[in-house]
Amino acid sequence: MELKMMGLIINLLIATQPKWQRFIAERQALLDLLKTKFTHSGKTILALMRNLTLDLEECKDSANDKQVELLTCMKKLTEEDSDIGEEEELKEKMRSLVLPDSKLVGIKREDIIGIDDAIRSMREGIEYAIRYPYLFENGHKPWKGILLYGPPGSGKTMLAKYVAKIVKDDLQSTGKKLVFMNVTPADLASKYFGGTEKAIKAMFDVARENVKKNKPTVIFFDEVDSVMRRRTSQETETVRRVKTMFLTQLDGFEDNSQVVFIGATNTPQDIDTALLRRMEKQIFIDLPHSDARKCMIKHALQANISCSEHVDGFTDNQIDTLVKDTEMYSAADIATLMRSAYLTAISDMLDDSNYYEVTTATVEERNVGRSRIVALCSTNHADCMTKKQALDLGYSFRAPRVDFDIIKKTMQVVRPTVDSKTLASILEWKNAREQNI
Ligand SMILES: Nc1ncnc2c1ncn2[C@@H]1O[C@H](COP(=O)(O)OP(=O)(O)OP(=O)(O)O)[C@@H](O)[C@H]1O
Ligand SMILES: [Mg+2]
Repeated sequence: MELKMMGLIINLLIATQPKWQRFIAERQALLDLLKTKFTHSGKTILALMRNLTLDLEECKDSANDKQVELLTCMKKLTEEDSDIGEEEELKEKMRSLVLPDSKLVGIKREDIIGIDDAIRSMREGIEYAIRYPYLFENGHKPWKGILLYGPPGSGKTMLAKYVAKIVKDDLQSTGKKLVFMNVTPADLASKYFGGTEKAIKAMFDVARENVKKNKPTVIFFDEVDSVMRRRTSQETETVRRVKTMFLTQLDGFEDNSQVVFIGATNTPQDIDTALLRRMEKQIFIDLPHSDARKCMIKHALQANISCSEHVDGFTDNQIDTLVKDTEMYSAADIATLMRSAYLTAISDMLDDSNYYEVTTATVEERNVGRSRIVALCSTNHADCMTKKQALDLGYSFRAPRVDFDIIKKTMQVVRPTVDSKTLASILEWKNAREQNI
């Protein structure tokens, strides 16, 4: 509603309604308040207007024709605003799902192991459409949607963010700013009737707005299967409407190469077939194979090591044993295993009661200006001190090294989270699809 219009209504109310006479003194303050709040939130104005309407409603019986007309007008305006307010509120919520650059920059190429083909396919899927839209002016079309599927913890989310980051960097020279919206089913959930459909519409509206501002948008929808579940006989009307809204909105982008929709799932077999048709590019991310696991373990053991290098303190045989023993581990499981092993090493180190002063600091310790350092005492160290003495004297503890035995011990507790049945059903779906193509 226009500010001028509201000013007018307030003036009219004050002039015609005895109850409103009390606002004469506050009229300017009221308008000033509206001016400041108006730019911030339609909701504040709306709440104010609703209160005004309720006040007026109370004196309806004694109102004259003009006042009744005014009341009707106010009611209509607040109702209209109620929709606009809700829509704007939902859009605001969707805008908050845009990942800030700080959340993308942390992912480095060397941290993503063993999924080079998936990176290439994803990059092609996003970059071709967004970076070179003119290549699709000849009637050919880029992928409408991309589906990332694979067992939990295989790196789907990490991959999507990483590729968004590199495309974003690439786009810089063109003046376009890529926006990455990270959406989960919980972001669309609503307890109100029709709320989820409205949220879905708001999500796509925000993408449309971005494109108008020269901001190509990637909508990354995690766990897409939970909103777009395969049709069942018990499907409720609400679920059907939500799915229809989703598909309709997605179709609205058919000719807009500046919006790329990426869905991720651990259960592709549960996804609605109509959505699958629209997710034309499907990228499988498997559990890490042995070479990838070897590389992940080495990376976790020694910073900045290349996958072919030897790890200090480990024999090649020991590394091979760890690779073999982590066969069903996902990438996330391996990360958890190695983190837990390190925490166990810290706990073992801090439990021990004797420490000696280290004379030569490591490069890392020197880099952070740490000089007074102690490490665990062994039989060939004289002058060992207790933990309390070390702390009282202001020493820092040297970061412990994780050894083979600690990892083996930790493996008994940190088990693979993906079971063979889960993996088999994903692979079965994958094979069936590949045979149909
Ligand atoms: N290819 C990889 N290389 C190195 N680390 C990885 C890789 N994939 C996953 N990780 C590790 O696992 C963590 C979880 O990965 P991510 O969340 O991307 O998996 P996901 O497939 O999206 O899992 P979910 O299906 O549970 O959503 C990452 O933060 C990272 O530590
Ligand atoms: Mg994920």
